[in-house]
Amino acid sequence: MVIPENSRIVIFGASGDLTYRKLIPALYHLFENNQMPSSFAILGASRTEYSDDAYRQKLKNSLTEQEQTDPQLLGAFCEHLYYQTLNTSDVDDYTQLKRRLGQLDRHYNFKRQNTLFYLATPPSLYDIIPGCLAAHKLNDVTNGWKRLIIEKPFGYDLRSAKSLDIEIQKHFKEQQIYRIDHYLGKETVQNLLVFRFANGIFEPLWNRNFIDYVEITGAEFLGVEERGGYYDNSGAVRDMFQNHLLQVLAMVAMEPPAAINADAIRNEVSNVLNCLEPLTDECLKNDLVLGQYTESMVKGQLLKSYRNEHGVPKDSRTETYVALKMFIETPRWQGIPFYVRSGKRLPTRVTEVVIHLKRTPHPVFAQNAPGNKLIIRIQPDEGILMNFGLKEPGAGFRAKSVSMNFHYDSLENIQMLTAYERLLLDALNGDATLFARTDAVEACWEFVQPILNYKQAPQSLFGYACGTWGPKEADALLRQDGRNWRFPCKNLTNTDYCEL
Ligand SMILES: NC(=O)c1ccc[n+]([C@@H]2O[C@H](COP(=O)([O-])OP(=O)(O)OC[C@H]3O[C@@H](n4cnc5c(N)ncnc54)[C@H](OP(=O)(O)O)[C@@H]3O)[C@@H](O)[C@H]2O)c1
Repeated sequence: MVIPENSRIVIFGASGDLTYRKLIPALYHLFENNQMPSSFAILGASRTEYSDDAYRQKLKNSLTEQEQTDPQLLGAFCEHLYYQTLNTSDVDDYTQLKRRLGQLDRHYNFKRQNTLFYLATPPSLYDIIPGCLAAHKLNDVTNGWKRLIIEKPFGYDLRSAKSLDIEIQKHFKEQQIYRIDHYLGKETVQNLLVFRFANGIFEPLWNRNFIDYVEITGAEFLGVEERGGYYDNSGAVRDMFQNHLLQVLAMVAMEPPAAINADAIRNEVSNVLNCLEPLTDECLKNDLVLGQYTESMVKGQLLKSYRNEHGVPKDSRTETYVALKMFIETPRWQGIPFYVRSGKRLPTRVTEVVIHLKRTPHPVFAQNAPGNKLIIRIQPDEGILMNFGLKEPGAGFRAKSVSMNFHYDSLENIQMLTAYERLLLDALNGDATLFARTDAVEACWEFVQPILNYKQAPQSLFGYACGTWGPKEADALLRQDGRNWRFPCKNLTNTDYCEL
């Protein structure tokens, strides 16, 4: 276990939801597991006024509401928390930030000014904060590293992502920029590489000769909740597809890296994303389905339509569902379709990859045998399931589908880091492997840009009832190829969870 160097962590957007729900709990768990530096200070910064004590109390309350905590440990952790009221977009205000950091240096006797800046503010500030830091030389690396974690979304489209990069890179080098995609922090996503490349039974099969097609599903049971205003400017393509699902696809489809390090792995991620077959007008017409959820009763509860959600215009044409058939132009994947879908208000919350293997050629046995499937579950219960055919006991040779099941949580004495824990720890240790590099982000935007343009077309949106698997047009997308989506759960008893 590598323990990070002593450092200062500055969180911009410290009074926001992400800080309370994800960042502080993640840092607390790292502290609990002795994975934080021996000396560290966390300085929250945002416009809301708090004293250090009031901020500590607020975070203490929020942590104890979210989970069971050890009061003594929590008290010790909170001693490392500080707060600076700051108008994030006012460059003059950063004088206060600099002064506070100087005080912390003296208090902790920091020899080096290693600093992790976490940008958890609205995206409109992502290009402003680096400039303000630079104006006060807070990006100076002469005595300690300076790193910048940037939350999603990184840009709104290809043009804005490029211009955001240009602004940030005026003040921070690419190696200092950590663009977060929390899906990459998930154990199963990383495990895709080990699973693929370290196993003699899978590595030779992972190509167009043996794989028939691949499905990737990112389903959410919830609607937009209180974030209708934000979501309406985003939609499923920007919110899930462009980042999380394409990153997962890259892990499924990339070539083996020459070494296990950030550059080698990210080179391959970028290569495969640059090989996505560009979407022509014909593809958009035939292979893309955009949907929006409509009102319906789900288990006795009336769920409102997207257009009736708080903050959403009554005539909104924002998609809450996307399904796309896409191809990758590499020798490994030539002609193999990847069907990718994501939506809100689907029957359950699940993210999974399904690898469908080709059927065997022997007509006698293959006739009634189920196709082999490998299901890689990314959330909620991280694990892997394999489906294969066995002879049905008794007379004849009928095949029956059976499965082998592995759940990460069944491993004993294994400490699973949550995505934010893993990513914060990596950033503190200067390991950028699981963060998106600029070329990969731009390749994703470049690929989806035709969809963003197409979204404007009046005929492009289909309705689907809450609690269903999306518009029927998405089923037709596979049916026309003689295939079906896997339904991750047939008999849902608990709407927020489904069995692997
Ligand atoms: N919440 C999540 O689960 C989640 C997940 C993935 C990504 N993200 C991304 O993380 C970022 C933060 O999300 P969040 O949910 O924490 O948002 P939020 O609850 O709205 O918090 C925004 C934070 O930014 C601060 N802020 C500074 N200048 C601001 C300004 N001009 N206008 C509004 N707020 C300003 C706010 O504090 P003051 O008003 O006190 O300044 C607040 O601390 C967003 O970019 C979001 O896309 C969030």
